[in-house]
Amino acid sequence: MFSINQNMNNSIKKVLNFYKSINCMKYLFYSLFSIIVLVCGCKGTKDTNQSSSITKSVYGKVNDQEVYLFTLTNNKGNQVKITNYGGIVTSWTFPNKTGKKENIVIGFDSITQYLQQPPYFGALIGRYGNRIANGKFKIDSIEYILATNNGKNHLHGGNIGYDKVIWDAKVVNDTTPTLVLNYLSKDGEEGYPGNLSIQVTYTLTNDDELEIEYNATTDKPTIVNLTQHNYYNLTGDVSNTILNHSLMIDADNYTPVDSTLIPTGEIKSVLNTPFDFKQIQKIGSRIDAVTGGYDHNWVLNKKDTSLTMVATLWDEVSGRKMEVFTTEPGLQFYSGNFMDGKFINYDGKPLKYRTGLCLETQHFPNAPNQANFASTLLKPGEKYHSKTKYKLSIQ
Ligand code: BGC
Repeated sequence: MFSINQNMNNSIKKVLNFYKSINCMKYLFYSLFSIIVLVCGCKGTKDTNQSSSITKSVYGKVNDQEVYLFTLTNNKGNQVKITNYGGIVTSWTFPNKTGKKENIVIGFDSITQYLQQPPYFGALIGRYGNRIANGKFKIDSIEYILATNNGKNHLHGGNIGYDKVIWDAKVVNDTTPTLVLNYLSKDGEEGYPGNLSIQVTYTLTNDDELEIEYNATTDKPTIVNLTQHNYYNLTGDVSNTILNHSLMIDADNYTPVDSTLIPTGEIKSVLNTPFDFKQIQKIGSRIDAVTGGYDHNWVLNKKDTSLTMVATLWDEVSGRKMEVFTTEPGLQFYSGNFMDGKFINYDGKPLKYRTGLCLETQHFPNAPNQANFASTLLKPGEKYHSKTKYKLSIQ
């Protein structure tokens, strides 16, 4: 009897001790958990010292209609400013390696300069990005005649492309600041067939990516090739040319051009030419070997329509790096060869020869007249979709 009782007492003690140790462990676990939360919280507030936002202000008037400037701020305080006139990005501020914030795109402070026909600084481009030979193309053996605004060729949508129209703007700020722009491009505009209903969405993420998403539908067969025309100078100072920037383009081939910058139709290997940017290269190292400088379409190596990293631009001095991701098959690298100091940047400095460069994601120039290039035809019932993002970081 006694031994049974003692055994029972021992068992009860063991159970009690077991529970005590569990409580102790629980306590330990909760303390550790709280410490981790605290540490992460502090780290979080250091990186993300403000919440993202999007604000709207009046920018000026175009043809008696008010246009606006939208300021997209991410949670690091970096900002992109966009006007609904031409969907133009007027500035994008980002720190250099010492933390100094500067504007890394070319742009103006006021709408008046944008009305003086600058060469597409920061603008949305359409209905067809880049050139169409002689401003002519056919769909189902019907010939369409477009406005010719670049010698005998059609460039970037004609005389009044999407860079010179007022877009309808809607602001979204759920998790990341987003600007949704809509434009109805009428049947016959600049010679294009079909009413094209377009939506372009700009988003600035907390990872310093500027995302641009394009959607469109038509009511008649037409051609579409939308892009965006930021001029980048990662030094943050347009007194510097872009010749010391380094560039990588993931492309084995490019499309050579004739004297009017229309592709000859050939898909040519970049091997042993100044067009080889497969390994990162200083832009200035071989530019003099290219007549007129770089203004060509690279045939990207990517094989599908997934959003893929295709190019890297880097300025060693500031440490700013930009990666380009796209769903498109081509990339136009334009080294600012026609810049001549005529226009003055927002900071009062003239925009001289090669002080900005463009990396325009696209289908190939003159594709509507070049059967071996991927088609840009859009038919009623189909959906045009394209997405590109530019991601900034420090290296
Ligand atoms: C074209 C250049 C043109 C520039 C500005 C680029 O996309 O490839 O030839 O001069 O835009 O108009």
